[in-house]
Amino acid sequence: MPLEAMLKYWQDEHYESEERFSKRQDRKKPKGRRSITDLYVGEDAHSSADQFADSALQLLFERGIIKEILGELKSGKEATVYLADGPEGLMAAKIYSDMLVRSFRNDSMYRAGRFIGDDRIQKAIDQRTLNGINAQQGLWVFHEYLQLWELYRAGLKVPKPMVGPDASDMVDAGRVVLMEFIGTRDAAAPRLSDVRLESYEAESAWQQSLEALIQLAKMGKVHGDYSTYNLLWWQGEVIVIDFPQMGDIAENPNAMMLLERDVVSLCKTFKKHGIHENPEGVFRELRARALLSGF
Ligand SMILES: Nc1ncnc2c1ncn2[C@@H]1O[C@H](COP(=O)(O)OP(=O)(O)OP(=O)(O)O)[C@@H](O)[C@H]1O
Ligand SMILES: [Mg+2]
Repeated sequence: MPLEAMLKYWQDEHYESEERFSKRQDRKKPKGRRSITDLYVGEDAHSSADQFADSALQLLFERGIIKEILGELKSGKEATVYLADGPEGLMAAKIYSDMLVRSFRNDSMYRAGRFIGDDRIQKAIDQRTLNGINAQQGLWVFHEYLQLWELYRAGLKVPKPMVGPDASDMVDAGRVVLMEFIGTRDAAAPRLSDVRLESYEAESAWQQSLEALIQLAKMGKVHGDYSTYNLLWWQGEVIVIDFPQMGDIAENPNAMMLLERDVVSLCKTFKKHGIHENPEGVFRELRARALLSGF
């Protein structure tokens, strides 16, 4: 299937089926290359200059990390994910919209306990000054890269980050999280929320998802938005995505509540696959296996 058709197919068939689809009133038309023109300077996305409007994208382009943005995969409230091409193959470029113009969800619950290291920045963030908003956005993206690198290096099934681990490279990436694209030109990995599974696949997907959550807890992490909406299903494997809200259990005073909420969301969203687990039992197992009994 040609790329353009694949993008359209994926958006039409795989995305926002079910509840989310019907809830969204403002669903945009399927997007192809036309919708990426605003990423580029000028009218033509394929002008020879290929100048990006966003300075971070431009830098990634000049460094040869991105060759071309091929199309839009998914547009959400806070970020839009694009399919990009680069020397190492296809990548997913998650570009956060400008914090000034978006209604950024209140992230203080997730940020609680995170070390900022500079009182002035902390104050600016608390007071929501322009500098504070910019700093908060930078920290949010930087944090997602740090988490991705840590999990990737620990061998968890997550997309490989394509910027870093050098901190200055991650800072230069601005509001762009660039990572390995899970899928091929012909088929993008669907979310577990969007697929129909045979019962043996559902059982395997559940086991893998639970193991990944326990693995994270063993590393002292709570994902913070763990459900089938943030789990991709690819060639029989579960890949965890979406980490900006992930926190350290030892540092975040809300960690146990977030962990419990993750367990509840996971159990709830697996019901459609015929998996009916009791969240309390699952939470007990998680605490025991991740040695979180002190909490
Ligand atoms: N590395 C990737 N490979 C393939 N698809 C991806 C990748 N990263 C993200 N996606 C797709 O883009 C969607 C949005 O990504 P993500 O969940 O990280 O962003 P988000 O801002 O949380 O969006 P939403 O609020 O809609 O969940 C995912 O549901 C997934 O289908
Ligand atoms: Mg998500």
